[in-house]
Amino acid sequence: MYKEKILDILRASRSGFLSGEDLARKIGVSRTMVWKHIKSLERDGFGIDAVPSQGYRIISEPDILWQNEIKTGLKTKVIGRELLIYPEISSTNTRAMEMAWDNAHEGTVVIAEIQTSGKGRLGRKWISPKGNLYFSVILRPDIPLHKAPLITLMGAVAVASAIRGICQVHAEIKWPNDVLISGKKVCGLLTEMSAEQDRIRHIVLGIGVDVNMDLEVLPTDVRTRTTSLMSETSQKINRNALLKEIFRKIDQWYPVLFQDPAQVLKAWEKFNMTLGRRVIISGAGEALEGLAQGLDTEGRLIVKLDDGTTRTVAAGEVTILKR
Ligand code: BTN
Repeated sequence: MYKEKILDILRASRSGFLSGEDLARKIGVSRTMVWKHIKSLERDGFGIDAVPSQGYRIISEPDILWQNEIKTGLKTKVIGRELLIYPEISSTNTRAMEMAWDNAHEGTVVIAEIQTSGKGRLGRKWISPKGNLYFSVILRPDIPLHKAPLITLMGAVAVASAIRGICQVHAEIKWPNDVLISGKKVCGLLTEMSAEQDRIRHIVLGIGVDVNMDLEVLPTDVRTRTTSLMSETSQKINRNALLKEIFRKIDQWYPVLFQDPAQVLKAWEKFNMTLGRRVIISGAGEALEGLAQGLDTEGRLIVKLDDGTTRTVAAGEVTILKR
């Protein structure tokens, strides 16, 4: 707690030095205790300039996900009130599913710095090196099973709007829920759930955002269609701040799903880059080519084929054809 206070004070006076004596007086501990906490911050990865007769100042911050940092100022009602951060885990979705079975509270989030067996849609792997965001949110929505895809669409809306807000880049959604910038994927969402009869017991909304990773670590075929927020903005992104904003957006949109789901679809349409375009849909049965016309009330894609008939598609991989 004192360590966090010292950090807050040092951050607030970023340009100037603060003496050990001033720090000690401000938080009501001894100078030796201040020194010990400064050493501990250095061990956490903070660069701290310590100059005799002037004091301390922060010169660099570590790129680590930090419980305290995420929780400070987090005003959500449900999302992220309980957090678990793993340095490394097989998959946050797998862990969150286990916790959901063990009755974890709704809104609990499992976060990891690295995933060793990250899962993607359609049985693919999600390559999960250090520097990005990998997290899974446990939800217990009281909606029928066939409405579950709306949760993922809502998640995509939350991520796209948070990215636009924090990074000032034009994030768009490709059906059903990939988030792209300039045509390259920056985020994927994977929901897994357990249901009884027609009711959802729990659902895990898994989100992977490429933030500060070095794109070179990706295999060439993946690299050509992937981007990161750092690469798009030419600066390192504060992952704690972005995560907090995504939590805030999910917290805002989740209740809307129950009150007025049409609003979520409307928001999705605002961010979407698929409707009105010629598309090929593959990955779930026979490939289809046609015009992406709209979404039905459950978030399925309505495609007009060249013979004039329409098909409604629940899952698959969309390729948008050039105009
Ligand atoms: C996709 O294929 O686009 C979906 C990717 C989903 C990746 C995220 S990362 C956090 C969570 N844990 C996983 O194993 N997968 C999801």
